[in-house]
Amino acid sequence: MKNLRDQIENLRQEISAFQTQDLSQVEEFRIKYLGTKGLLKNLMGLLKEVAPEQKKEAGQLLNEFKQFTEAHYETLRAASTPKASAKDTPADLSLPGDAFPVGSRHPVTLMRNQIVSIFQRLGFAVAEGPEIEDDWHNFGALNLPAHHPARDMQDTFYIQQNPDWVLRTHTSSVQIREMEKGKLPIRMLMPGRVFRNETISARSHCFFHQIEGLYIDKNVSFADLKQTLYFFVQEMYGPQAKVRFRPSYFPFTEPSAEMDVSCFICDSKGCHVCKKTGWVEILGCGMVHPNVLTNCGIDPEQYSGFAFGMGVERPAMLKYGVNDLRLFSENDVRFLKQFTAAT
Ligand code: PHE
Repeated sequence: MKNLRDQIENLRQEISAFQTQDLSQVEEFRIKYLGTKGLLKNLMGLLKEVAPEQKKEAGQLLNEFKQFTEAHYETLRAASTPKASAKDTPADLSLPGDAFPVGSRHPVTLMRNQIVSIFQRLGFAVAEGPEIEDDWHNFGALNLPAHHPARDMQDTFYIQQNPDWVLRTHTSSVQIREMEKGKLPIRMLMPGRVFRNETISARSHCFFHQIEGLYIDKNVSFADLKQTLYFFVQEMYGPQAKVRFRPSYFPFTEPSAEMDVSCFICDSKGCHVCKKTGWVEILGCGMVHPNVLTNCGIDPEQYSGFAFGMGVERPAMLKYGVNDLRLFSENDVRFLKQFTAAT
């Protein structure tokens, strides 16, 4: 029995020390210890010679040793079995290729580009200006002197360090900058981000985008304004779209109007978008006020012009079926990815 115990102990040490990753050596290990003529079989043979009262204990020892040897063999085999690598697998050329992640334009950019391209066909060029403006370009030159009540029409963000600076509330400020350059005639489009101190909700935000337009030349009339905007609506919403102008008030235009387009969602039958009226308001417009022309060094006796301004987010919401304004500025890739194929 002592003999058996010693032999097992020696073999256990021998086996523990045996390490390889070579598959053929692993096979040699199996034959040597676990094979039909292997050492384990040999040891089992010794059981016959053990005294009957010790047989139980000897049997247990041998069993344990067998499990130990088999486990060591399995570990060696797993470690030396070559892993299937990609290059061993023949390529299946009929499978579709891996999707290539592509970026997408932001829906606000898509809408902006669409609006801009329509006016570009009428000869309008794009102008841009600063988002932090001085009081003069955002208000004063636009016929809104200090304390003018119409300043309250737009809730303004002022810059603490300098009360003369504001975050522009509209891109009309860029109109002033264009007129100040003194190069006439002007046919310009001013797209850009604007800021108003409004509570953020699904329908309003403290910043959004606008596109304003300005046309200054000799003999520009309200008829030109109407025809230009009518062209825009037809291109944008299709030949069946109708427009209507409602008198309105802006300090920088006289006369002023707001333009509605027949509801393109319900075909004017009445829905939640047009609030059952059949019409959707899309922009403000009017003839540039003579005071504004004078403020920019343009003689209102010689020149006249029209201006208009519209939001970008609202038509984008209608076109792409977006029901929450906040989605546009949250940069959630799951939202943005949906516009990969959109134009
Ligand atoms: N600036 C105006 C606004 O932000 C829009 C507008 C532009 C109206 C030009 C008339 C003419 O509401």
